[in-house]
Amino acid sequence: MQVITHLSEIKNITDNLRASGKIIGLVPTMGALHAGHLALLRAAVQHNTVTICSIFVNPIQFNNPEDYRLYPKTVDLDLALLQENNCDIVFMPLASEMYEHPAVLKFNFGALEQVMEGFYRPGHFNGVATVVSKLFHLIKPHRAYFGQKDLQQFAIIRQLVRDLSFDLELVCHSIVREPDGLAMSSRNQRLSPASRQLAPQLYEALQQAAGLIKGKQMPLQEIKSQVNTFLQKYPAIKLEYFEIVDAETLQPIVDFVKPLALCLAAYLGDVRLIDNIVLDPQ
Ligand code: PAJ
Repeated sequence: MQVITHLSEIKNITDNLRASGKIIGLVPTMGALHAGHLALLRAAVQHNTVTICSIFVNPIQFNNPEDYRLYPKTVDLDLALLQENNCDIVFMPLASEMYEHPAVLKFNFGALEQVMEGFYRPGHFNGVATVVSKLFHLIKPHRAYFGQKDLQQFAIIRQLVRDLSFDLELVCHSIVREPDGLAMSSRNQRLSPASRQLAPQLYEALQQAAGLIKGKQMPLQEIKSQVNTFLQKYPAIKLEYFEIVDAETLQPIVDFVKPLALCLAAYLGDVRLIDNIVLDPQ
């Protein structure tokens, strides 16, 4: 496994790989790897001839400086996991080189970024779109792997790829969960033991809502208030939003459409977690 830090180096390597007919799969991450990331990696290894994982805690996508400062960093463990899982190349650029010229370009994803994560984390998707564009240009992957865990991020990147004609296939991988249902996340490491115990209630709330939608037992507004009432039983969980949206456009729905997504974000202490379920109500 090669570990590359410089932009010029990764560019040369991937230019040569492409020229020699290799199929490149890219898994962009911010490190602190867990089984969710590794599922993406394994899918990439299976379907491409060369798999590249990037590890870069992208400063410009953090709207909260404390969240950036406290973001878990486990580089040695990450490298061991990547090696074990047959990653070929790890790209770990320095922020000083990625943003040698500070990025000023602003993306506008319209309605897609005016809801949920885009609404509550101003500037976040601009930072994501910037870094993902840079990675796509530097690495020129044939396929790029992202998780449904960040459903809105996937929708933003799909729009980015369409609008800018990036010549690659996007793959969306389902959510990998802990045995108790909690969606795997690098930020789970920062949960206190008490918060970690409560955190699976987020998925429980989503599942309950999914059950109500499948049964078409009640209006959407009623389902939303049931979720709020359920989570209010746990005062340590501060729900930021729970939305029932069109799974493609991410816009709140007024009537049952398919496929739809149930999405939420909540704070447990100072740790912010997100989760979702996509379902087809037919
Ligand atoms: P990060 O949070 O490290 O996630 C990297 C990729 O792993 C994302 O596509 C994310 O959706 C996916 N992922 C995270 N948890 C998952 C889970 N439990 N199951 C399946 N996939 C999961 O998302 C980012 O980094 C950054 O925004 C990035 C795209 C790298 C740009 O900086």
